[in-house]
Amino acid sequence: MQTVQHLSVTLHDYHPRTADMREEVLAGLRERQKTLPCKYFYDQRGSQLFDAICELPEYYPTRIELGIMETYAEGIAAALGPRVLLVEPGSGSSLKTRLLLDHLVEPRAYMPVDISRTHLLTAAERLSRLYPELEVLPVCADFSQPFAVPEPKRHAARSIVYFPGSTIGNFEPNAAIALLAQLRRLAGRKGGLLIGVDLRKNRKVLECAYNDAAGVTAAFNLNLLQRINRELRGDFDASRFMHRAVYKEVQGRIEMHLVSRENHSVTVAGENFHFRENEFIVTEYSYKHTLPGFAALAAKAGFAVEQVWTDDRRWFSLQYLSVC
Ligand code: AVI
Repeated sequence: MQTVQHLSVTLHDYHPRTADMREEVLAGLRERQKTLPCKYFYDQRGSQLFDAICELPEYYPTRIELGIMETYAEGIAAALGPRVLLVEPGSGSSLKTRLLLDHLVEPRAYMPVDISRTHLLTAAERLSRLYPELEVLPVCADFSQPFAVPEPKRHAARSIVYFPGSTIGNFEPNAAIALLAQLRRLAGRKGGLLIGVDLRKNRKVLECAYNDAAGVTAAFNLNLLQRINRELRGDFDASRFMHRAVYKEVQGRIEMHLVSRENHSVTVAGENFHFRENEFIVTEYSYKHTLPGFAALAAKAGFAVEQVWTDDRRWFSLQYLSVC
C-alpha cells in the first residue's frame, strides 16, 4: 500500500497490478464459454460511460434509487445513527453520497473505495471541497479483496458501509455471499450496511434498460475490448463485435454479451483466441432479486435485514442490514 498526498486528500493506494488483469482476462478467454470480468469496464472512459448510462431515460435504477433516498433521507439517516464512518466501496463519482452526507448526524469521515484511481481522486477532491469539515479518506483498491481500512482522525461510533446502485447484482449468488461477508468485515462488529438492490420486474423494462436507444451501453460494453488492446497488447477489432443484453428469467439476471459478427482470431498478450460467427463473450451478469431471496442471501453472509425502502412500483429497493 502506498500513501499519496493529492491536493487536499490523502490517497491510500492498493491499486491492483496489471498482472492480475492479464491473468483474469486470459483465463476468461480460454474458457469454453468465453467471459471477461465486468470489473474491468471501469477505466477512465468506462467510468465516464457508466455515468452517462445513469442519466439515460431507459436506465431506471439510478433515478429510482435517488428518488428513494430523497423521499426517505431522514429515516435512513436515523437508522444509520450519529457519528459514523461512511465507507463506500465502488464509489465511482459519489453522486448519491451527497444526499446521504447532507442528512447524516455529525459524520466522522467518508471513505470512498474504488478501482479507478483518477475517477476516485476527482470525486474525493470535489467532496472534500464541498464538505470542508468532513475527513475524506480515498482508498484505491479492488473492494472484493480484503484490504486494511485506514483509521479516521476522529473516533467513529460505528462504520456504515454504503453500497448503492445494485452493484451486488453484478455478482453470482456465491460470489455475492462472499462479497457481502467481505462488506460485513469492513463494517465491523457494531456496523451496518446500506445497500441498493434491484428487484425483479417485467422483461421489457429490463431489456430496454440495458439496450438503450442512444447506444451508450453498447459503447460501455465495447470499451472493454479497447481497454484490453491498450493495457494487454490486444488486437480486438471492436467493429467485429456487437453488444447484446438479454434477460434470463430462470436465473433472474440480465446477461451482457459481446457477439462476434464473423469468424476471426484475436491476439491478447501474445495468446491467440478464435471466435466463430455469433460466438459471444459474457461480459456481465446483473441479477435482479426478490425481497425474500435477497434476505436469504444476506443471512448467509451474517447480515439481518432491518429496514427496506422501495418506490411505489417496487422496482428498486434500498435496504439497511445490521451485522448479526
Ligand atoms: C454497476 N452495475 C450495477 C450496473 C448494472 O446495472 O448492472 C452496470 C451496468 N451495466 C450495464 N448498464 C449498467
